[in-house]
Amino acid sequence: AYSWSSPSLPSVLSGAVRIRYRMCQYLPVNRPMNDQNPGSIHAGAAAAEQATPSPSSLVIRRPDDWHVHLRDGDELRLVADYTARQFARAIIMPNLSPPVTTIAAARSYRERILAAVAPNRRFTPLMTAYLTDEISADEIAGGFEEGVFAACKLYPANVTTNSAAGVTDVARIHGVLERMQRVGMPLLVHGEVVDSDVDIFDREAVFIDRVLSPMMRDFPDLKIVLDHITTEQAVQFVSDAGPNLAATITAHHLEINRNAMLVGGIRPHLFCLPVVKRERHRLALRRAAVSGNPKFFLGTDTAPHAIETKETACGCAGIFSAPVALESYVRTFAEEGALDRFQAFASESGPRFYELPLNEERVRLARREQQVPAVVASGPLRIVPFHAGESMQWTLEEQAPES
Ligand code: NCD
Ligand code: ZN
Repeated sequence: AYSWSSPSLPSVLSGAVRIRYRMCQYLPVNRPMNDQNPGSIHAGAAAAEQATPSPSSLVIRRPDDWHVHLRDGDELRLVADYTARQFARAIIMPNLSPPVTTIAAARSYRERILAAVAPNRRFTPLMTAYLTDEISADEIAGGFEEGVFAACKLYPANVTTNSAAGVTDVARIHGVLERMQRVGMPLLVHGEVVDSDVDIFDREAVFIDRVLSPMMRDFPDLKIVLDHITTEQAVQFVSDAGPNLAATITAHHLEINRNAMLVGGIRPHLFCLPVVKRERHRLALRRAAVSGNPKFFLGTDTAPHAIETKETACGCAGIFSAPVALESYVRTFAEEGALDRFQAFASESGPRFYELPLNEERVRLARREQQVPAVVASGPLRIVPFHAGESMQWTLEEQAPES
């Protein structure tokens, strides 16, 4: 009942990134989403915002990011500080190549992350273990008890970037899940099946029925975060479940639907997994995010890829949102007239789920325009950020003067 793929299926993703044809160069990649652009999705929400009073700034506890890809090497050195300047803590995804599966690997990755952020930052990377069919329960639980691992990440094998070593069937990690349940270690889930007969737009909803529900019945006390939810089915399922299930929501799934990615030309920098869905789903996610329900909290899923691996015949999935993450989220809350609930979503519900202290430091988000760079670069490495080339109505000021 747990199987999410026929084991004989070849990986859809592995090898794909090696294809480097330079296609689609004629497309205006950085075209802003506005009323002249068929990808526009903001008109209604912007009208709603004008009806409510608009404060010129918002001071909140420093937020945490509960889902981040920082990569390694040159990429890590380029991207890490964008996350560290916005967030106090971040859950670091372990899908490196090779993946982070041991306490020793997590310790040394954490050191490389700390070396990559600006020296004055007070930033805490929270490390995760990448579950494989063979991973040992002792390594996982030992790492949790030593304070090295904050959680485990479950990637169904071949579901996304660097997931080939992921779990082929939940039945194979029953012992590990039992142990995690016993020691109170959270499980973070990429909730999509990979069956070739399931449409990519349905993979999250099918995962909930076929994998997540039975898993929750078998492990009722296991704390689970359904990562980067994208559908109204996920919103409903998480809302109806008990307190052991929570979900992260990305900034981009609150802002864009599949039209934004596909109408008027394909925009590879808006392609991510789980893929953006219909407008109906985006609206359900927005209602969940601003509802004040503590089961929904911030996780950017910032996932940088070099420009040539995105703008190609078979492009990688992932949106690099770290440079404008809070600016992007706060826009949604302002548009929904819910700025008073932004702190709960960004800074309180996550730590409460993880049973960690709230951050005492404050940040200020000012309603001040900023221009987002078209590209973030270091030497030959170039990455296109979310909202590249657009102007944003909000700007993060790093330290609130009175705090
Ligand atoms: C992520 C990546 O590139 O590592 N990509 C993405 O589209 N979100 C992996 C993931 O979280 O699925
Ligand atoms: Zn991710």
